[in-house]
Amino acid sequence: MPPTSPTQSAILKFLRENEGTFVSGADLAAKLGVSRTGIWKHVRKLQEMGYEIQSRPREGYKLVSVPDSLGRREVVANLKTSWLGREYHYLQTVDSTNDHALLLAARGAPHGTVVVAEQQTKGRGRLRRDWLSIPNRGIYMSILLRTPLPVHTAPQPTYVAALALVKVFREKFAAPSFLKWPNDVLLGSKKAVGILTEMQSDQDYSRFIVIGIGINVNHSPEELSGPFRYPATSLAIETGKTVKRQHLLHEFFLQFEKDYEEFLQKGFSAFIPQLETYSGILDRKITLLCGNREIRGIARGFTQEGALLLLGEDGEQETVWAGDVTHVEGAV
Ligand code: BTN
Repeated sequence: MPPTSPTQSAILKFLRENEGTFVSGADLAAKLGVSRTGIWKHVRKLQEMGYEIQSRPREGYKLVSVPDSLGRREVVANLKTSWLGREYHYLQTVDSTNDHALLLAARGAPHGTVVVAEQQTKGRGRLRRDWLSIPNRGIYMSILLRTPLPVHTAPQPTYVAALALVKVFREKFAAPSFLKWPNDVLLGSKKAVGILTEMQSDQDYSRFIVIGIGINVNHSPEELSGPFRYPATSLAIETGKTVKRQHLLHEFFLQFEKDYEEFLQKGFSAFIPQLETYSGILDRKITLLCGNREIRGIARGFTQEGALLLLGEDGEQETVWAGDVTHVEGAV
């Protein structure tokens, strides 16, 4: 919950500027033109909102941690990116963050605009499925990208985003994570992230792309008991710890911005080694739904564009450009 009064915001700003040290109540009072008792009352309110503020007689106040809010004030204040999330829209409830981002795109919102909601009433998955959006547990977000891309390469930013999440899970949360091609992220062998990309294009180039990402962060096993088409898990379940969503969001923004720039410079072929290293399906027997067609085979590799090379049960190799992996042999 963001601070509700300008004095509370000013206290937080001052405490942040002096992070790690105590700020005396007298200094705060003088700076903000409020009595020391007034400062103390505002600090109490902030503590009730979840801000951890240590207070010591004679020394004053020290900001220890902020609540796990995905609100604009908290997220934008700590952004380390240059364009991603600089335009940040935070909503308590929305039908779908993708719909909201598509609307903003049509109104001219800039490249890198991010929409985040605490709750979605009509969160959408691929193939017209619903996406479970429990309030305050997950991250439900959409990212608007405006770089014109040849239409046949338009799925690639989705792979780049999914790989960025795999790397963040591994490197920042020590969680074994894999990519279930084309755009699900697994923790162990269960799904923790789904991505739905929507775009507008002319016949050659994309006009804009909206990457919608749903991350199961602090969901409990009961909340994910399903039924789902693919077994589900959350970062908290897999690591055994409650995760600060704000921290995850910042780490993802940093990684994705860096990777997206590399993708624009070098092309998608630079990401093929990662696609192979982090694949949760490579050399495994899989079942794949392509439209109405169900195919089985062994995932043999990826093309330079990121399409899947599948060795079918009939011994023929085929290139699959899109599909939904519904079963991986050996997985749960
Ligand atoms: C899938 O696995 O089928 C894709 C799920 C995508 C869900 C996210 S949550 C944020 C964004 N808004 C939506 O309505 N969907 C995506």
